[in-house]
Amino acid sequence: MTTQHDTIRAIVWTGSELQLLDQRLLPQRKEYLSFSRAADVAQAIKDMVVRGAPAIGITAAFGVVLAARDALARSGADWKNAIESDLQALAASRPTAVNLFWAIKRMRLKISSAGADPYAELLAEAQRIHDEDIAANRRMGSYGAELIAAGSGLLTHCNTGSLATGGYGTALGVIRSAYAAGKVTHVFADETRPWLQGARLTAWELVQDQIPVTLLADSAAGYLMQQGKVQWVIVGADRITANGDTANKIGTYSAAVNAKHHGVKFMVVAPTSTIDMSLADGSAIPIEQRPKDEVLGFGGQTVAASGADAWNPSFDVTPADLIDVIVTEKGVVQNPNRDRMHALITRCSQ
Ligand code: MRU
Repeated sequence: MTTQHDTIRAIVWTGSELQLLDQRLLPQRKEYLSFSRAADVAQAIKDMVVRGAPAIGITAAFGVVLAARDALARSGADWKNAIESDLQALAASRPTAVNLFWAIKRMRLKISSAGADPYAELLAEAQRIHDEDIAANRRMGSYGAELIAAGSGLLTHCNTGSLATGGYGTALGVIRSAYAAGKVTHVFADETRPWLQGARLTAWELVQDQIPVTLLADSAAGYLMQQGKVQWVIVGADRITANGDTANKIGTYSAAVNAKHHGVKFMVVAPTSTIDMSLADGSAIPIEQRPKDEVLGFGGQTVAASGADAWNPSFDVTPADLIDVIVTEKGVVQNPNRDRMHALITRCSQ
């Protein structure tokens, strides 16, 4: 169900196939692509048709449903072996967002316990993953908005909204909730080079949902903070480790350093499916390196001097001590560290 300031859904199960809003075309064109094979879903994740950590996880879960349908048709009783190559292709699509591996693990559990109607059971599980994500985002929206004082300017980085999740968003969900509560004077969004998730996607979502937004070049964020226009930087996460270190879109670390220098509060908003307690700290997070031409060019056109090399990490890691608060659907962790993250996860499992 969508409501005011929340009208967009990027992942749609039609009853027989998966539809994904092609995020590479936004904001110029709003087109859904249809998928009936898991291998094509894996390629779509790789190619950024769909992106954002929770959205990647949900998409992979529906990919597993398509894989099971195919394996059942091809191999009958041997479907659990026949599905394996598709599961591996899905897991190899992008390395940093742990939600992908979390969702595949959850679907694997259903595969191993599947009864008389595996397809229906797996479809129900994928739909639960989708629905639970939206519910988690709504909860995080209110937890995060409670922390924001009336009259605040907010800055966000990348796209963490309905496009990046099952719906509503993580950091953008908090911004939606705080805006609906009348607490926000101004929403600023970094354009987010090189994919322009801020300029193309966050700005599009906020305009669609009638929340005014001001874009800035990523490099203008420090000056904006120096001018006292921002009280909170609010971002999402692709993976949070056991000590609270957080991988997110490249540029997040710079925003956190700037926030600390200017006394601006820094909030990470992510569901517990983004927390990876198996990694002690952020140095162990695999960071995706993307093609150099994303930096050397723009819109398919080369702009850099010919002969120049490029470095294009898609994510960076913000150390926990630069983070004031991590907001999850299970509660809020102030000044995150190993003990407080452990306490959150222990509370969750009780
Ligand atoms: O490369 P992308 O667009 O998938 O990166 C997305 C981000 O870094 C988001 O901030 C993160 O996944 C959180 S989305 C709720």
